[in-house]
Amino acid sequence: MDDIKIVNLDAKDDYTRVADLMYRASDYVEMETGKANNPGFVHATLNDAPPVCGPDDRFLRGLERPDGTLAGFAGSIRHYPKHGHWYMGLLILDPDARGDGLGRKAAKYVIDEARADNAPCIRIAVLDVNTGARAFWDKMGFEHERTVKASQNEDGNERHILKLDLTGE
Ligand SMILES: CC(C)(COP(=O)(O)OP(=O)(O)OC[C@H]1O[C@@H](n2cnc3c(N)ncnc32)[C@H](O)[C@@H]1OP(=O)(O)O)[C@@H](O)C(=O)NCCC(=O)NCCS
Repeated sequence: MDDIKIVNLDAKDDYTRVADLMYRASDYVEMETGKANNPGFVHATLNDAPPVCGPDDRFLRGLERPDGTLAGFAGSIRHYPKHGHWYMGLLILDPDARGDGLGRKAAKYVIDEARADNAPCIRIAVLDVNTGARAFWDKMGFEHERTVKASQNEDGNERHILKLDLTGE
């Protein structure tokens, strides 16, 4: 894990290597979208953001191996749902890279970026069926804020919005 670097990604230039990662991590992609190989999901992950987010409010980070392949991806935005608040869009690791502290390292990196930006909090939405990730975010100190019912989401998944308060440190 020590040889993995956190790098900035570009939605266009790094599309292929993010797509390659998502293909390897298709267990998660299938859980969320129902389709293991899903170019639309890759495109949305790299490009979609609420209208309130300008180009400077979107952060794409890659966990890069020495050979240039990605062991993971962390995407986040700011000013959603409120001005100054941060939101982690997706943290996803290659199955081969899980369970060894890399998720913690990547999440901490993004949380530290939010803190450095004076964000009062950062949120993440976790699928109800993704009990492993829920346990991970609990370990990272996130707390349940609200649940968004399946009927309110386009993809039919129930999601829990979890929040980490950054004001008390
Ligand atoms: C969720 C994910 C990012 C976690 O990354 P990871 O590198 O496997 O997690 P870490 O090794 O850093 O674990 C950190 C802590 O969380 C716990 N944890 C991680 N995954 C867990 C799981 N599936 N079940 C229970 N606990 C888990 C670890 O035991 C560890 O606890 P400890 O500090 O007490 O030892 C990774 O498993 C992943 O990419 N999953 C698929 C995509 C996904 O679900 N993303 C989240 C979307 S909301």
